[in-house]
Amino acid sequence: MNDILIHIESGVMTITLNRLEKKNSITSAMYAAMAGAIGQADTDASVRAVVIQGHVSIFSAGNDLGDFLNAPHTTQDAPVHQFLHAISVFPKPLVAAVCGPAVGIGTTMLFHCDLVYAGDNAAFSMPFVNLGLCPEAASSLLAPQMMGYHRAAEALLLGEPFMAEAALELGLVNRIVVPTEANSLAQAQARKLAAKPMGPLVETKRLMKSGQASRVAQQMGEEALSFARMLREPAAREAFSAFMEKRKPDFSGL
Ligand code: COA
Repeated sequence: MNDILIHIESGVMTITLNRLEKKNSITSAMYAAMAGAIGQADTDASVRAVVIQGHVSIFSAGNDLGDFLNAPHTTQDAPVHQFLHAISVFPKPLVAAVCGPAVGIGTTMLFHCDLVYAGDNAAFSMPFVNLGLCPEAASSLLAPQMMGYHRAAEALLLGEPFMAEAALELGLVNRIVVPTEANSLAQAQARKLAAKPMGPLVETKRLMKSGQASRVAQQMGEEALSFARMLREPAAREAFSAFMEKRKPDFSGL
């Protein structure tokens, strides 16, 4: 089965995470497929907006933890970085529908979406420290900006999940609906955007983002270097092994 589904209709490209048996965790091949789709959406004039969605029960369990061990993101051109770069500079509207857990990059990619609709079962988390890692996707910059420093510290240092209501209050999501309606709401909003004049839409998005575009790119680069270093260090190796062995990690001495 294809782990990433791409569908174009009524000016909207829909990218669906479709690896349910592994909770929509994202492999390098999936990042590459999504980066390619976003690139196509950028250049294809018939695509006027993009929706990223998961399943009604789960958005994404984040990066595939086996991949972290086998295909670590040690280079700047790793598929994960291509994907993050693609969504961070994508000029057209990007809409997300999130139900169930959105772990790690499942949450951080939302900082680059223009509109986010959540099922009332959505649970957001950025447990990078718990995995012996640091934030990515410029979330170390964008989370404090959006949430305020102390709430970002709770989310990024403690790695505690927060639910849809909290995400709405923080400004990370636009609206909460019953989970079965999240994908269709995102689709309807994307189609509204696709019907608008492209020039003004793209220019408005550019203007909203231009103030800190270079800062975001710089932060992503800095995070990527730290992330790649930490992937090779004992805390991360212990965290990934513990996950695979279905036990609690032992960080004593680390
Ligand atoms: N990478 C690889 N495999 C993953 C995964 C991930 N990030 N998340 C889940 N899976 C796999 C599990 O290993 C399990 O595989 P198995 O059936 O072969 O044993 C399967 O998906 C189901 O996961 P399970 O944990 O049993 O589902 P759940 O409904 O109890 O919990 C989550 C769902 C998302 C809360 C939980 O899977 C989880 O916390 N995953 C890890 C999240 C994470 O740390 N991501 C990295 C962020 S940087």
